[in-house]
Amino acid sequence: MNTEQFFEQVLSVRLTPDREALDIIDQTLLPGTIRRIRLETKEEIWEAIKKLRVRGAPAIGVTAAYGMAVLSAKSKETDFDAFYKDFKALKEYFASSRPTAVNLFWALDRMDACAQKAGESGLSIPEVCKRLYSEADAIREEDVQISRSIGEIGFGLLKNLKKEGEPIGILTHCNAGTLATAKYGTATAPMYIALEHGWAGTDMHVYCDETRPLLQGARLTSFELSSAGITTTLQCDNMASLLMKSGKIDIVFVGCDRVAANGDAANKIGTSSVAILAKHYGIPFYVCAPSSTIDLKTPHGGQIPIEMRDPEEVTKMWYKEPMAPEGINVYNPAFDVTDHSFITGMITEKGLCTEPYGEAFARVGIG
Ligand code: MRU
Repeated sequence: MNTEQFFEQVLSVRLTPDREALDIIDQTLLPGTIRRIRLETKEEIWEAIKKLRVRGAPAIGVTAAYGMAVLSAKSKETDFDAFYKDFKALKEYFASSRPTAVNLFWALDRMDACAQKAGESGLSIPEVCKRLYSEADAIREEDVQISRSIGEIGFGLLKNLKKEGEPIGILTHCNAGTLATAKYGTATAPMYIALEHGWAGTDMHVYCDETRPLLQGARLTSFELSSAGITTTLQCDNMASLLMKSGKIDIVFVGCDRVAANGDAANKIGTSSVAILAKHYGIPFYVCAPSSTIDLKTPHGGQIPIEMRDPEEVTKMWYKEPMAPEGINVYNPAFDVTDHSFITGMITEKGLCTEPYGEAFARVGIG
């Protein structure tokens, strides 16, 4: 299977051919089982986001957008005000699924603005719904282009690191890959673009942090990259320091769930430890950040809401027997915030941004 066919097989989310439901790959079953499931009701869509069947900031945004389109089209209302009241309630419901990735709220706001504009133009409800489908399609298509642009910039950084007869060592944390987006991923896009430019999978060696407790690195990223023929090694999160010290890592690429106006970046729990280690060992640390993930309304990282998750993800989920005493207190934040001072650069689709981030975002046209 070539990389394009693989992208198609693991596509995170799309509409079913009848456009009446969502078709997602159930990421909780990977890598052992590749199963696509149909989501028809609002409860099924909410549960799929909450339980990480579909996950990764951009993919959550696309899912919510398609969810709004599909469920709005089932409305029996003929009056816009009544239709819009249900629309707002649905928006609030989806917004309650996960708090950290801003792409969810960004996509819901875009759908809301689209509905309002269509309503103000006096369109019939079926016409409003057509607009909503088009907006959701646009969100998905834009994500493909955004990831590609991020990949091109990241590939430029990889080219500068190219060594004769030795692969470039890349470390990544969590999964900011095709499964987390509409096609190329963000942190993985530079590698996929490198393949398109004729690099061999052996020109790069990607080290995937396992990413406790939900193992996105082990289950998803190492699956994705090895399937694409890229040399891939999996390590536990607590092995990153030794790995960096050994000189095997030339660059770090990670994704993000919400970037504050000052460049502080929330991403999967453990990312900030990787950034601190990278700075210690003098390894460039890049955050791959679509502009939809940059939240200029949040001044700094301390104001980013951090999702807390079920203790059983730490104590039981992956084991035959519980791995901790019954009833033990568990600390299970899903994300942490990397201070902007540990970030070498932020790769947005509009350009590479560096400190001071506020000014850099404005310069490339974000905000
Ligand atoms: O809890 P998850 O698996 O949804 O967390 C995902 C991440 O932290 C990703 O790195 C982030 O969403 C970027 S995806 C391009």
